[in-house]
Amino acid sequence: MIIEPRTRGFICTTAHPDGCAANVKTQIEYVKNSGQLNGPKKVLVIGASTGFGLASRISSAHACQASTIGVFFEKPPSEGRTASAGWYNTAAFEKEAHKAGLYAKSINGDAFSHEIKEKTLALIQADLGKIDLLVYSLASPVRTHPDTGVRYKSTLKPIGNSYTNKTVDFHTGEVKEITIAPSTGDDIEHTITVMGGEDWQMWVNALLKADLLSENFKTVAYSYIGPKLTEPVYRKGTIGMAKDHLEKTAFAISDTLEKINGKAYISVNKALVTQSSSAIPVIPLYISLLYKTMKAKGTHEGCIEQIYRLYKERLFEDEVPTDPQGRIRIDDWEMHADIQEKVVELWEQATTETLPNIGDLEGYRNDFFNLFGFDVTGVDYLKDSNEIVAIPGLKE
Ligand code: NAI
Repeated sequence: MIIEPRTRGFICTTAHPDGCAANVKTQIEYVKNSGQLNGPKKVLVIGASTGFGLASRISSAHACQASTIGVFFEKPPSEGRTASAGWYNTAAFEKEAHKAGLYAKSINGDAFSHEIKEKTLALIQADLGKIDLLVYSLASPVRTHPDTGVRYKSTLKPIGNSYTNKTVDFHTGEVKEITIAPSTGDDIEHTITVMGGEDWQMWVNALLKADLLSENFKTVAYSYIGPKLTEPVYRKGTIGMAKDHLEKTAFAISDTLEKINGKAYISVNKALVTQSSSAIPVIPLYISLLYKTMKAKGTHEGCIEQIYRLYKERLFEDEVPTDPQGRIRIDDWEMHADIQEKVVELWEQATTETLPNIGDLEGYRNDFFNLFGFDVTGVDYLKDSNEIVAIPGLKE
């Protein structure tokens, strides 16, 4: 079928298999051209199908020659209906991994559930024995708690006061003011339950109990801090409370791992266009100004560049460099004073009229459509594509 993007706000309900495959190949090429690394050999990635998790799986496999198991929650294709992008990404990833002689299998389902944990543990036991790295890169708006069956929803709200600032509708380019009402009731607690560290800890506990973690095992989860500009809606908002919890959980997990000399890390990553970040108000305007500034300085990176640098220069060093709070800072180039000062200056000037020149709205849009396999260079969108694509190593 001919597949076109169908968008609803920050969601695209179709995905292009050939475009997704081309994106994955570009990421693999980047890693191969950047050089092999002395890294992990048996890796589990939770949230492995898009964004930072996919980049972690690609870096593990193609820079470290690791066997990988990926867990994600994606929609399979059916006759006349495309799969979600992460499905096509994974199909392409596995195909390339197998071609390179690398073990790669995947599990599609709710990582929060006991069922998917048990299934993953059984697969590790049968095929890998023990893993030496767990990447926790899950981003979800909801979580059904596996012990109680209660469904929690995360929110993106300021705390205490309502927050008014500029934002951009990246489809139309319109810059306008929005006001976000503060959290109420259980919003904070619910957001922490979904995006905090409890599930990460549950994964590690289950893996440790089943004796599936090797000596010197490492685990990393991804966090975000960002600038003062976005603080009320991000770091000091409901999602920020969840990130505080996730970051605290790293210390608790490290304690759990003491007997195998294991350690849990937080990597604070750069703001990037992913399916999750495009849902956060204000952030798209910040990202388009940030991209413009970082591209001009030559320091712009996408997910794959970020994660490759994390692997090469931080996570596997004998002495892992961290900030005073114990976090790896791979957002260092974003947070550089020159960059942040420039973004603040541009923020003041940003209007519907000025943004096309002072911001990288084009880059934002392009990255957004790329997430779903659209607007990818070299892909013929007028050609019939087969929407039914199988993931070869999918564990049913
Ligand atoms: P993403 O939306 O691209 O990826 C989310 C992944 O989680 C996908 O593989 C999806 O299938 C999986 N997933 C969602 N719900 C699931 C469930 N119930 N069970 C199994 N898998 C599930 O997100 P992105 O942006 O890569 O985020 C990953 C982490 O990185 C998050 O913790 C996020 O906060 C963090 N981060 C993101 C930044 C950004 O600007 N995008 C910046 C810094 C950190």
